[in-house]
Amino acid sequence: MKSSSQIIDLSYPRSYSRTGECYGPPPESYNTPIYCRPSECYVHPAILQHSYLSMANVYGLTAHILNTVLAAGLDTSSATLTWALCLLLNNPRVLEISQDELDEHVGRKRAVEESDLKNLVYLDAIVKETLRLYPPGPLNLPHESMEDCIIGGYKIPKGTRLLTNLWKIQHDPNKWSAPEEFQPERFLTSHKHVDVRGNNYELLPFGSDRRVCPAIPFALRSLHITLATLIQQFVLKNPSNELIDMSESWSDYQQSHPT
Ligand code: HEM
Repeated sequence: MKSSSQIIDLSYPRSYSRTGECYGPPPESYNTPIYCRPSECYVHPAILQHSYLSMANVYGLTAHILNTVLAAGLDTSSATLTWALCLLLNNPRVLEISQDELDEHVGRKRAVEESDLKNLVYLDAIVKETLRLYPPGPLNLPHESMEDCIIGGYKIPKGTRLLTNLWKIQHDPNKWSAPEEFQPERFLTSHKHVDVRGNNYELLPFGSDRRVCPAIPFALRSLHITLATLIQQFVLKNPSNELIDMSESWSDYQQSHPT
């Protein structure tokens, strides 16, 4: 039996405290059982099945979780913002409508705030239309079937790798009129009730169901407030008379970017 100070007792409530011996540089006990006062140590649910962890496990897991969140969160958001700005510069009329909306609901005497976002419906439509035209993960993340199944008449054996072509779904002419065109208005009219949260299968930039992006509220809030701030606080202009080249390329994380 290990002493209680050496074992994370998972039956205790867990908190996000930054104090306690499980943070900081690896001590000489790096490869020994973790010492941690249970009430001060946060353990990720994915590792709850292990009742006994070494320091190496904890550092490895922390690095892995941070890496996943950075990879999943940074490039997707920055690529979407870049696409949105390019689309606005190529479609000055849309930019003007968005500026008018900000003028009407926020004015020019103060900076736009999160509490204003609920009134900025055209801005919301711009974000949706950007994610429809340019989902940062056009082929979603790879999934694997856990059991034999039949989809559309095809037998799919257990263990088959599945890549969903989100880009194609979101450009389907049977669901979207003029699918190649940037028309935020469609989300205020014909597609008013279509959202991006995985409930409508014609628009899935965040995936859907059990593996849907866990950060949708955070991602949408940060996209909205950043874009609104840029539109409100800066004069956005294309320095050239030519349209911005909207052809795509891939980042290191396999996400789609403007070239
Ligand atoms: C424009 C912004 C974003 C888009 C379009 C996006 C899209 C996606 C998609 C398509 C997936 C895969 C879903 C699936 O497998 O079916 C995913 C997964 C994930 N996203 Fe996002 N994401 C965005 C922002 C973020 C942010 C800001 C974070 C974190 C701060 C984040 C964290 C994650 C994580 C951790 C996963 C993996 C979930 C899992 O494997 O179960 N994402 N995201």
